[in-house]
Amino acid sequence: GRYALILAGGSGTRLWPLSRTLLPKQLLALGGEATLLQSTAERVAKAFAPTGIAVVTNEEHVFEVRAQLRGQLPDVDSAVVAEPVGRNTLPAILLGLAPIVAADPQAVVGVFPADHRIDDVASWVRAMDRAAELARDGWFVTFGIPPKAPETGYGYIHRGEALGEGGYAVLGFTEKPDRETAEALLASGEYSWNSGMFVFRADVFLDAVAVHAPVLHDWWQARGKRPLADGYAGIPDVSVDYGVVEKLDRIAMVEAGFDWDDLGSWEALYRLGRRDASGCVIQGDVLALDCSNSLFFSQGGALAVAGVKDLIVIQTKDATLVCPVTEAQRVKDVVGALKKQG
Ligand code: GDD
Ligand code: MG
Repeated sequence: GRYALILAGGSGTRLWPLSRTLLPKQLLALGGEATLLQSTAERVAKAFAPTGIAVVTNEEHVFEVRAQLRGQLPDVDSAVVAEPVGRNTLPAILLGLAPIVAADPQAVVGVFPADHRIDDVASWVRAMDRAAELARDGWFVTFGIPPKAPETGYGYIHRGEALGEGGYAVLGFTEKPDRETAEALLASGEYSWNSGMFVFRADVFLDAVAVHAPVLHDWWQARGKRPLADGYAGIPDVSVDYGVVEKLDRIAMVEAGFDWDDLGSWEALYRLGRRDASGCVIQGDVLALDCSNSLFFSQGGALAVAGVKDLIVIQTKDATLVCPVTEAQRVKDVVGALKKQG
């Protein structure tokens, strides 16, 4: 059968101050009525049976995640799996995989981040169908996005020979290159961005974990003797990209015919938001006079701006961010500096 895991665990620090540890971005409605998690679940249910969908999230968010998905997933209490602490994507996938493998050791499994925006759902569903075929044949399937810039926050997929319609064998995978490498990869024209979504056969994936992440595999093998979540705090923090994908031989890539954005920054929300005649994206209680090409967001009372351009202003009840649109990535530095202050 076909199963899906939705990962809803990151803290989305690049959207500070809106997105905090207590309310990460996938649980927020960003410019729509549904939250990113709800639209992800809706989309995933179009390509995977709703009874085969599970969500892995941090213990602190389980209540909110269940509340958001009640009515969307058939048995929300068992479908939402809690991690005691965040140990990154590889352990989270293994946690969600346990009940699937018990039901079907050769299950075809899709893994989906809960915080992406994808508009063309029909095309996304076609890509999933193609990926499921390749996965059944033993390929670990990634989804390639045509790259637009030398982004250092993404993984890069080196396309090889075509594998029939819409698919490629992958020559190599480079997770989060430095700037210089990213520029070279982009210039070669042979690379796609990794979307962070994967489709694989459970047994193929677990064999790879046994070889490339033996410590995690030992922990995983102990399931049945004790609940997996028990030893969770003691296992290493590893992403699926560094831990497994980068090391695989048989990776395939399905070319994304759909538009995709991981909404990783205020800049992305500005770029994709609905702009008024002056090029401003405005949400909440905002008065903007003679401003242009800016993003203004207020959740905590009135925000007034006059005569500014190319600016991001985000106001919440207890924190405010101001920076030029071009410096949106510096929110990471802000969060880092705030953490140091305690
Ligand atoms: N449940 C759970 N637990 N989910 C997690 C955890 C965790 O400990 N850590 C991350 N996630 C979720 C995040 O919420 C996100 O939806 C997804 O897993 C991916 O994690 P990120 O931390 O956002 O990864 P990334 O953005 O650095 O990189 C990945 O995504 C890029 C595309 O957005 C990689 O796959 C890159 O190669 C890729 O280009
Ligand atoms: Mg991400």
